[in-house]
Amino acid sequence: MQMSLLLRQKLPDFPWDALAPYADKARTHPNGAIDLSVGTPVDPTPDFIQSALSESANSPSYPLTAGTPELKDAIHKWAEKTLGATGDFSVLPLIGSKEFVAWLPTFLESQKVLIPEIAYPTYLVGALLGQSQATPVAIDASSWPHADLAWVNSPSNPTGRVHSESEFKAAIDWSRKNGSVVVSDECYLEFGDSKTPTSIMKYTNGDNKNVLAVLSLSKRSSMAGYRAAFIVGDPALISRILEVRKHAGMMVPLPVQKAMIAALADEKHVEIQRARYNARRATLAPALVEAGFTIENSEAGLYIWATRKESSWDSVAWLSELGIIATPGIFYGEKGGEHIRIAMTATDQNIADAAARIRSKVSPH
Ligand SMILES: Cc1ncc(COP(=O)(O)O)c(C=O)c1O
Repeated sequence: MQMSLLLRQKLPDFPWDALAPYADKARTHPNGAIDLSVGTPVDPTPDFIQSALSESANSPSYPLTAGTPELKDAIHKWAEKTLGATGDFSVLPLIGSKEFVAWLPTFLESQKVLIPEIAYPTYLVGALLGQSQATPVAIDASSWPHADLAWVNSPSNPTGRVHSESEFKAAIDWSRKNGSVVVSDECYLEFGDSKTPTSIMKYTNGDNKNVLAVLSLSKRSSMAGYRAAFIVGDPALISRILEVRKHAGMMVPLPVQKAMIAALADEKHVEIQRARYNARRATLAPALVEAGFTIENSEAGLYIWATRKESSWDSVAWLSELGIIATPGIFYGEKGGEHIRIAMTATDQNIADAAARIRSKVSPH
């Protein structure tokens, strides 16, 4: 009891609670609120994936933590084709990549963890759960201090920034020089827009020691409710992680494993989803620019990252008057204090309405 209370006190306040008053304000808009804050997919899970799940509904036995041979084979082939992975590498399914981000420092008993200075908050949460010291760092790995573990994230949540080849290579060099683990969170990999993201696995020259990539089907295949993700990389590291996860009960349900195999065998639905997110960004971005926002990065992924060089809360408040809920950049680190993150996870109609509401405010006639 005492232990869990102390741990809870170490974790940050749940950031979304701070947004609640702005969401309440947005809900008073006569045409209702348009929620572009939490990046949760709204487009349906493709039918063929739903069928693969329901056809496997009879599942009386415990699933394997390591995944079925069929799933491991499907991930392996997909990683060679889509990530450009070479050399000796292993794969491991996960119950969503958030689970992995939150628990990896604990599993590896990492003392020091590097996290991007503008980042998905769970990297910090994982360091806190693991009682590790977290240090926010810039993208350029040649400036990184020594640590046991470093996270990179491309395309980034929240900025939509895409790592270049040389940035990935610098992260791999840092790992080799320090004998430390580098993990690349690539859960938006297939959603390129003005830039086409690549994987860290492409740049290891087949020497995957201490390198992992994390992929997720939550956004790629609109399967966030299934909890389906996986890692690819260093076989020795993955077997260490598997040993701990086997004890911790983190097994992907068998019907979900079957659905993952179906999802990984198809790229068509990913193309359709990518086109949807990019079209929504193309609809909303010009309206934000007309309202005085500068769009930064937003080259890929699910978000628009924008600033009006004012406190992110002022931008959030301005949008809430229009019934639009956005996320303040401060949720992602001090450096995001003058930005907002806007998610493309709303229907085409809602995105078009949001653009119209912004335009009617800045040029009413
Ligand atoms: C950068 C990043 N990593 C990981 C996750 C977790 O995704 P999931 O647990 O659905 O795989 C998210 C979710 O928003 C994310 O933005």
